[in-house]
Amino acid sequence: MLCTIVLIALPVVHGNGPKEMKNLFEIAPHMDQKGVFGSTSLEELAYHMTFNLVFTNGEYSGSTLSVIGRNPFLNEYRELAIVGGYGVFRLARGIAQLNTVIFNSTTGDAIVEYNVMILHY
Ligand SMILES: *[C@@H]1O[C@H](CO)[C@@H](O)[C@H](O)[C@H]1NC(C)=O
Repeated sequence: MLCTIVLIALPVVHGNGPKEMKNLFEIAPHMDQKGVFGSTSLEELAYHMTFNLVFTNGEYSGSTLSVIGRNPFLNEYRELAIVGGYGVFRLARGIAQLNTVIFNSTTGDAIVEYNVMILHY
């Protein structure tokens, strides 16, 4: 499938995941993920993703990180590029390392851990 385009507006932290995930949810800052992804590979399942991580609470509220890259989501290790941001993260550069914690192939539901490292001024 080379032509699926999906618009996303997901809460990154929703707090009602499995009990064993409680720590991850509590550590993560509150933010939303807003953007688009589409399948971009004939050889394997991979998405092109472009989205903003929008901080909605706390110290960085109102700031964003702009993320873009290729996500072969069945691979254990994936990396997306942080190419910029707004607010405190203007001129930010970095990477987001993605780790799928839970994936249900029946429903398509997944919990993905983002480990984000950025340099900013
Ligand atoms: C996937 O979701 C379905 C529907 O909610 C559920 O019945 C099934 O047990 C889930 N599979 C796994 C591996 O969690």
